[in-house]
Amino acid sequence: MDNKRFDEIKKSLEEDLKDGLDLKVLEDLRVKYLGKKGFITELNSEIKNVPNEEKKEFGMKVNELRNRFNDFYESVKEKLDQEALNKRLEKEAIDISLPATVVPVGAPHILEKVIEEVEEVFLSMGYDVVDGPEIEEDKYNFEMLNIPKGHPARDAQDTFYIEGEEILLRSQTSPVQVRTMLKGEGKVPIRMICPGKTYRRDDDDASHSHQFMQIEGLLVDKNISLSDLKGTMDVLFKRLFGKDVETRFRPSYYQFTEPSVEVDITCVNCHGKGCNVCKHTGWVTVVGAGVVHPNVLRMSGYDPEVWSGFAFGFGAERLAMMKYDINDIRTFYNADLREAKVFDREDEE
Ligand code: DAH
Repeated sequence: MDNKRFDEIKKSLEEDLKDGLDLKVLEDLRVKYLGKKGFITELNSEIKNVPNEEKKEFGMKVNELRNRFNDFYESVKEKLDQEALNKRLEKEAIDISLPATVVPVGAPHILEKVIEEVEEVFLSMGYDVVDGPEIEEDKYNFEMLNIPKGHPARDAQDTFYIEGEEILLRSQTSPVQVRTMLKGEGKVPIRMICPGKTYRRDDDDASHSHQFMQIEGLLVDKNISLSDLKGTMDVLFKRLFGKDVETRFRPSYYQFTEPSVEVDITCVNCHGKGCNVCKHTGWVTVVGAGVVHPNVLRMSGYDPEVWSGFAFGFGAERLAMMKYDINDIRTFYNADLREAKVFDREDEE
């Protein structure tokens, strides 16, 4: 081994160890110098052929070369690895400065809220909340409410018939009165309200909808009179609209009550002073009601000589429209989310 070979290799190494290498070239260099047939490996195996007195120095020189190569290799490798990692992180990074997608938050439907409020009032007075079928029999929707076939009062309800003259979409929640009494089997007291969907062949406009919600109420016990109804209506509307709200009865006519009344409340909009909403009367009609007709009691198994009751029914939309100042009933049934924003008023309460 002559020093010439050593110098050649040293020179080659100095030329090879330069900036700007990529991982592949670096690996080639490692093989070139430290591989099985690598230059430094070659020098290493030459040590044994070097005369003894030069061995130590030659060994140190070879070591020095190896250390240089190793230091270079380690530092470049670390740098390249770090660069590759940075590149990957950059590509996969989540940009936390991007504005987040706004997830729309829903709110309870106003109709549902109003119904729940009504339910709370009646539950606190010992009423049950009951359910009835939307597909109803003529018998319950009309006949047992004292509206026989051919009675003109049926026309006013413009019913959707499903099968012949017997099966229909209920046009009112009043059939649930009958169902409740039949289930009650003559036992008292009956105290129930029934909120639910009802249907009529109305053309939809700002104040009509072919589908709407009614809330029915029925109380049957001993010695029930109109004044009990009056007290109950008073409690309901004061709880819903405030203590200043007053109720009044006007005579009316329903086949299933006798006497029958319409319940007016002082206009919530103008507090009774008179405005467009109440047509300048200071009052708005909100409920149909009365003392349960003896025929209705009898047909459902309650002896009218012994028991009496009151019943009432009202539209939930009407209340909700008054409470939330909505002037088009179609708003409740419109699936347009932008319009449904009107329901999003949690924070105003
Ligand atoms: N069902 C009636 C309607 O749809 C409302 C009504 C009136 C219900 C008087 C009653 C009642 O229970 O006693 O117009």
